[in-house]
Amino acid sequence: MEEKLIQEINEKTPIVDLVSEFVSLSKRGKNYMGLCPFHQEKTPSFSVSPEKNIAKCMSCGEGGTPINFYRKIKNISFEEAATALAERAGIKIKTQKQKSDPNQHYYKLMNEVANFYQFNLKNSEKGQEALKYLYQRQMDDDLILHFKMGYAPSHGDTLYQVLKDKKYSVSDMIALGVVKQSDDGSYYDLFSDRVIFPITNPKGDVVGLSGRTLNPKDQVKYINSPETVIFKKGFLLYHLYEALSEIRVSKQVILYEGFFDVISSYAAGVKNGVATMGTALTKNQSNLIKSVAPSVIIAYDGDAAGQKATDHAIPILEKERLKVEVLTIPEQMDPDDFIKSYGPEQYEMLFGEYTVDAYAFRYTYYKQGKNLSDANDMKAFRRLVMSMIQNSDASIKGFYLQKLAHDLNIPVESLEFKRQPERQEPILPKPERPMMLDKYAKAERYLIFTMLRSKKASDQIMKHLKQTDFAETITASIRLKIESYYEEHSDMDLNQFLDQLSTEQRTHMETQLLSDMFWTNQIEISEPEMEGYIQLVKEANMKRRLEYLREKINNEDNVSDILITERDQIIVSLKHKK
Ligand code: UTP
Ligand code: MN
Repeated sequence: MEEKLIQEINEKTPIVDLVSEFVSLSKRGKNYMGLCPFHQEKTPSFSVSPEKNIAKCMSCGEGGTPINFYRKIKNISFEEAATALAERAGIKIKTQKQKSDPNQHYYKLMNEVANFYQFNLKNSEKGQEALKYLYQRQMDDDLILHFKMGYAPSHGDTLYQVLKDKKYSVSDMIALGVVKQSDDGSYYDLFSDRVIFPITNPKGDVVGLSGRTLNPKDQVKYINSPETVIFKKGFLLYHLYEALSEIRVSKQVILYEGFFDVISSYAAGVKNGVATMGTALTKNQSNLIKSVAPSVIIAYDGDAAGQKATDHAIPILEKERLKVEVLTIPEQMDPDDFIKSYGPEQYEMLFGEYTVDAYAFRYTYYKQGKNLSDANDMKAFRRLVMSMIQNSDASIKGFYLQKLAHDLNIPVESLEFKRQPERQEPILPKPERPMMLDKYAKAERYLIFTMLRSKKASDQIMKHLKQTDFAETITASIRLKIESYYEEHSDMDLNQFLDQLSTEQRTHMETQLLSDMFWTNQIEISEPEMEGYIQLVKEANMKRRLEYLREKINNEDNVSDILITERDQIIVSLKHKK
């Protein structure tokens, strides 16, 4: 986005009006003050200057221009914030950037589905039973509204009929998994007689649903939307979007196993909870947490399965450099059960008394149930603890070696780390080596890597290549995102950057670009190489242009001489390059 346009959007967005949507402000001299929405405080230090048209917290430093403020408070990309504010200010943006998300129609449909179920919970006869169930689980109307709970009726195709009446496409309904087709060709709803939990993506669009049975005898407790273009469980966390403002202030995420753990905790005043959905925590989810907070508490069920899942989740979260703590719920309960049995005050107290760091949790967990005078148990325990601290800080190593030596009743000197086999340097493929991709596509990818490495290289590449010079549309769109990112940041934070991408771009980055050896092996691309790749992309462009011109010249009468000259010039320059 152009500097001038950004300036215009900022100028035409009155900061006081904008901030007032999120913070209650009062006038102090020339400025306005309010409680900072970016950190926890009791006395207002968030200052808004109508004169300079900026907002800034005098205590934590967060804030900025209207676009920056909006971006941070909504947790969206710079580009999205700028576009949204431009729209409000009535400024037309006529770049391709405005091209809307290709999944927009899916979001619309899912939103309609969630609304329909929500309506049904309150306004149908069978819905009353579901409502009673939720009341029994101690949800009140405010909670039901916050979590947008719904009820799916059991008539087989009610949802299908409603959507059809509203002219939604049947293939979209099927693509999103809310409607299915039976062998005789008729359509029916996926969810039948279930309480519905809508699931949103980090931008707040409903992307999937989960339905809980009301019948305790039912074999299947929860049915989830199938994986779809917009619903990828491993990339989502339940209630993340809804908890964003609480997370922003507390700078922490509480990670649960179940929907009802999130809900009961919310009711008990712990509002920054999110949950995975019946699957083990993934790298992507961990990355998602890191993009919104620096710290996380794992609050899985207190039973054996929950502890095992905690042990699995810790390294994944630590890889993202999150500060990890573990809350162990006593008596093998889940957080929901605990709150029901002991009440919200006791629950809040747990966070002080039962929260331990990730090492302490694992040490206890590994020791649990082992008989330390049994040779096999001793060996297993030692191995687990040693591998836990293998790559840790010296103070942690020292502390746990002492502890382990004491528990095993052996001298600490006898504990040795297994020498890891020397890691073989992988043989790097030469950039020129022919790969599956043709050299032009490869050149584009290398350039994208290089742009991700440094702003300086990125500026240089952008100077030479316009977005439209990139042949792969996906690469071109990522190039554009990198450009906007550097408008805002001087260094690349890859996680933060990935979070600003659309699902498609992100998937492409993760499956095609980042998984590529070149990235993981940290190849540095020299300047002459970079020039070479720029030339290649230009050359590819010329070839495309040439093809276009040739076709036009061959097939059309009265072709202008200018085009013929252009063709000849391109042929000459291409020859020259060889
Ligand atoms: P739990 O069985 O711990 O869920 O499964 P819960 O929240 O405690 O359920 P209640 O309290 O009995 O209602 C944890 C999570 O695993 C997923 C759901 O996302 C659930 O919240 N799950 C569970 C499924 O996807 N399918 C199932 O059949 C069960
Ligand atoms: Mn439960």
